[in-house]
Amino acid sequence: MSFKVAGPLPGAAFGGRINHAGGAETIVGAAEADPSGLPKALAEADGLLLLRGMDAIAARPDLLLRLSRLFGAEIEDYRSNLTPLHMVHTEVPEILIVSNVPPVNRMPPALPSPPLTADGRFPVQFPHRRGWHTDQSYRRPPPDVSLFFAVTPVPKGQGQTLFADCAAAYDALSPALKAKVDALEGLHSKGRTGRSYDQVRNHEPVQPLRPHERSQRQPVVRIHPVTGRRSLYLCEYGQMDWLDGPFVGMEPGPDGDGARLLHELMSHITQPRFVYVHEWDAGDVLIWDNRCLVHAATWYDAEKLQRVMWRTTVSGNPGAIYAGARKSWIPVEPEPAAAN
Ligand SMILES: [Fe+2]
Repeated sequence: MSFKVAGPLPGAAFGGRINHAGGAETIVGAAEADPSGLPKALAEADGLLLLRGMDAIAARPDLLLRLSRLFGAEIEDYRSNLTPLHMVHTEVPEILIVSNVPPVNRMPPALPSPPLTADGRFPVQFPHRRGWHTDQSYRRPPPDVSLFFAVTPVPKGQGQTLFADCAAAYDALSPALKAKVDALEGLHSKGRTGRSYDQVRNHEPVQPLRPHERSQRQPVVRIHPVTGRRSLYLCEYGQMDWLDGPFVGMEPGPDGDGARLLHELMSHITQPRFVYVHEWDAGDVLIWDNRCLVHAATWYDAEKLQRVMWRTTVSGNPGAIYAGARKSWIPVEPEPAAAN
């Protein structure tokens, strides 16, 4: 089987689809027989690859794990990273369940306000659209690739996943802005620790953080270890540190110079010309490269609809600047035993 990329994805300038015969078992077997095929296709598709018709994964979750292993050395085990167990697949703990269905009960983001742009379009651009991020950027080294499988998607027009091409966005920066960001570092935060934009604006209490929970510095411009391309590597309101950041060495806080630069860069990255909107069908697998894309979830009517998605996260090739780095999110000392 050849892994020829058909691209770009509809309505976008990047991404690609593998058109394959046969179901998930066939394509996973073929990919394992040619282990560089799909990773090469992912790079060729600018970091966003769609496989459709993978429905068999719903009854064979091990196939998603086998597919994930092709994209990196390490697949995250969600039992070992403090994820609440009701969000973890019971048979394959490398699968995080993203769903509004009990016992997960994870609700979708709010509708943008206003729900449409002034010219009646679906809003994608920050800050009208919020929630743009790259997965687990609050960790060093950060992960490489995520896979997302639609077990039960919601009808089209809701529950989309948006992607923006941060390499194309970097290329389109002015020379002056490139020079400004090339050596800059962002400060990324896990959120819900009192350091998100909304929490700092609302003067919510700041939680004391243990060393392995602290915000992490990441280069604003990453050089992709496979393609060599430069990409902007940033998040926005929920996943930057708005107390001490968002940038190292710039005026901090939501009204500082750093905030102005972040707004400029995030609204640049998420212009419609750099964005792809994925409308999910059951059986879709989307594979995205966190090193060169940002993404955002969208609202769906969680009162009326049930949505079940499975996610895996792959690490192992973050680039030369992380060589030798210990995992920032793992405590150095064992946690003290809880008192009885
Ligand atoms: Fe995400």
